[in-house]
Amino acid sequence: MEALLETQDLEVAYGRIEAVKGVSISVAEGEVVAVLGANGAGKSSLLKSIYGLVAPRGGEVRFAGRKLPPRSTSTRIAGGLALVPEGRQILVSLTVDENLRLGAYNRRDTADLDDDLEAIYARFSNLDRRRAMSASTLSGGEQQMLAIGRALMARPTLLMLDEPSLGLSPKLVGELFELLRRLNDDGLGILLVEQNTRKALQIAHRAYVLELGRCVAEGTPEQLHEGGKIEEAYLGQDGAG
Ligand SMILES: Nc1ncnc2c1ncn2[C@@H]1O[C@H](COP(=O)(O)OP(=O)(O)OP(=O)(O)O)[C@@H](O)[C@H]1O
Ligand SMILES: [Mg+2]
Repeated sequence: MEALLETQDLEVAYGRIEAVKGVSISVAEGEVVAVLGANGAGKSSLLKSIYGLVAPRGGEVRFAGRKLPPRSTSTRIAGGLALVPEGRQILVSLTVDENLRLGAYNRRDTADLDDDLEAIYARFSNLDRRRAMSASTLSGGEQQMLAIGRALMARPTLLMLDEPSLGLSPKLVGELFELLRRLNDDGLGILLVEQNTRKALQIAHRAYVLELGRCVAEGTPEQLHEGGKIEEAYLGQDGAG
């Protein structure tokens, strides 16, 4: 089967800083793929260039069989690719409901918008209770759920998340990963950037390990553990929880 998402020799640079040095990854339909690596490995830069927030210096991104233009997030959202960015970036001056509706902004089919909104409220009861409240009143965990809910409003076939567990309590981290597992059970493909290696490898079908902008290992969680690749790449970075 052809990959849903594929990068080929992707390179990202900020001036003279080469953040991503020729990375080729793929995600199949309905697959959970983790991108692991220490601080500064290039994980966020990889996601941002896939999403069209930064133009790659080299290489290409293919999604659903088409080469993506270098800098257009709206094309991607309309095509079924969504990103939950690092640090959530929800709009705290808006209500929960307004934040969710913003997620549908670039959607082509808006007929089922209200149904989709209700489906998200059914999944996230904490958000349901706070529909009309300012997003600023949400806890960190609830804000992360809101960011995910907002991304789901675009009806993605592939959801990318940049360190979603960052700053969450171990209990909330557990709930977050449970949610991701359920979304995947419903058919959603997931590309997950995480420093919480242990948790990420519990739900990932495959993973890539980045080190200083290069992919130094890839495989199933079993293969990575057996080869000692995870420990080699960044011993002791495994997050708690
Ligand atoms: N806007 C930018 N301008 C200049 N350098 C940048 C910029 N963004 C990232 N970098 C540099 O690119 C490299 C990769 O950073 P990136 O944020 O992609 O890594 P990361 O794996 O996501 O790290 P972290 O785990 O800290 O989020 C780092 O050396 C970083 O300092
Ligand atoms: Mg990052």
